Amino acid sequence: MTNRLKKIFAVVIPASAVLAAGTAWFVTRLPASSFEKTGSQGEPSAQLVARGEYVSRLTDCVACHSVPGGAAYTGGLKMVTPMGAIFATNITPDRETGIGAYTLTDFDKTGKARSPGR
Ligand code: HEC
Repeated sequence: MTNRLKKIFAVVIPASAVLAAGTAWFVTRLPASSFEKTGSQGEPSAQLVARGEYVSRLTDCVACHSVPGGAAYTGGLKMVTPMGAIFATNITPDRETGIGAYTLTDFDKTGKARSPGR
């Protein structure tokens, strides 16, 4: 191998490794949430729950998070994409099958990346 080739490899291989590591970090990182430092929010007030219901109706969350004949917000709707099917999840307040055990931070992150613990 000529000296020139060795010099090229000495630059290209480490640069490729740094680029690959950077790409791997970028595509697998979890997004930050502005609620991370707020701690537990406690039980929401009746007024906040009513506001949440209003926003949910206004934005038609039930359209995707339900299937015909199924209970509202329990998910199951299949959305076919070129990368495969995505199923709308159960977003009821059930702590086992829904999102009832989510913290505000968990909820905030669901819109930005994959769901916590899944
Ligand atoms: C266009 C269809 C559609 C609408 C409308 C929609 N969602 Fe979703 N939602 C989805 C799909 C599909 C997923 C699952 C995404 C995944 O698996 O990554 C999802 C996931 C979620 C999750 C994550 C749940 C989990 O199990 O971690 C939450 C929370 C959520 N949606 C809340 C809402 C709220 C609140 C609204 C209304 C403001 C809403 N969605 C409206 C399709 C929709």
